[in-house]
Amino acid sequence: MTRSDVPSALQLTVQAGWNQTPGDWLRMIELEPNGCLVAEVDGKLIGTTVCCTFDEIAWLALVLVDTSFRERGIGRRLVQAGLKYADDSGVRTVRLDATPLGRPVYERLGFQPQFELSRWGGIPTGAVVASSMPQIDMGTSVSDYELLFELEKQAIGTNRKKLLQRLFAESPPTTVWNGGQVTSFLTRRPGRLSTQIGPGIGSREECSQLLEGELVAALGRPVIVDIPIDRGDLNAVAERAGLTVQRTLLRMYRGESVVENASLFQISSGAELG
Ligand SMILES: CC(C)(COP(=O)(O)OP(=O)(O)OC[C@H]1O[C@@H](n2cnc3c(N)ncnc32)[C@H](O)[C@@H]1OP(=O)(O)O)[C@@H](O)C(=O)NCCC(=O)NCCS
Repeated sequence: MTRSDVPSALQLTVQAGWNQTPGDWLRMIELEPNGCLVAEVDGKLIGTTVCCTFDEIAWLALVLVDTSFRERGIGRRLVQAGLKYADDSGVRTVRLDATPLGRPVYERLGFQPQFELSRWGGIPTGAVVASSMPQIDMGTSVSDYELLFELEKQAIGTNRKKLLQRLFAESPPTTVWNGGQVTSFLTRRPGRLSTQIGPGIGSREECSQLLEGELVAALGRPVIVDIPIDRGDLNAVAERAGLTVQRTLLRMYRGESVVENASLFQISSGAELG
């Protein structure tokens, strides 16, 4: 995939009702130029996948096939090409968040289920009542970001500095500080249809309060947020705000298992980032 493929790739996401913007595709091309792959028929782009590597862990996403070319083995070949790229890069684990349509394709290629996430979406209503808010510093300076990269690494077992740097440059995170230490953060990014909230990393209580603050700030504007189904208090914040579960995603892996730290990993970055 090159930058000139972005309009066609975007058409596939629109066809699927997905939320990506041109900026989401361009970010992936800049992060992992050789991991962004397309399927073409007669010079027309009809499929995509993106494999983004973080040291020995890869995130596979944006597996999309044009509706009129589905169930002909193209999705499978795209995933196989992504896996070959991961293997050639020396990766030991490939992870992804599967939609119900993607699951059979991944299962057949050896992916194992790990846990489910709820995709909450909708327009937050005035029913979001922020509880006693923690001390929130909205103006984190660039030098502080190293602490956030380290916090997320502890939470998900993956060093995603190269991705977080870009996300934070696009939209500075909201952070919580306790005793001179950053203990939690939450960010968001614009989408074609809705603002995607996440990643949210840190303590359950602080991330619940950060999510409340984010939803209050988004009153009247559509948002989506992906939360592991067993994070009861965070799911309750989304429900109280008037959001509804739009779909369930299944986190899957192939290779060595990588396990999130449940006391720090609270809100996912969304299916295309994990
Ligand atoms: C998921 C998607 C990419 C699959 O693409 P595809 O080209 O239709 O898939 P393939 O034809 O390569 O199918 C691969 C395997 O999965 C199976 N499969 C595909 N779709 C299936 C379905 N809806 N139900 C059951 N099995 C299915 C095929 O039978 C095939 O198995 P086989 O190799 O044993 O014959 C396509 O449905 C799509 O773009 N969906 C919308 C976007 C999406 O949800 N992407 C997944 C993101 S996680």
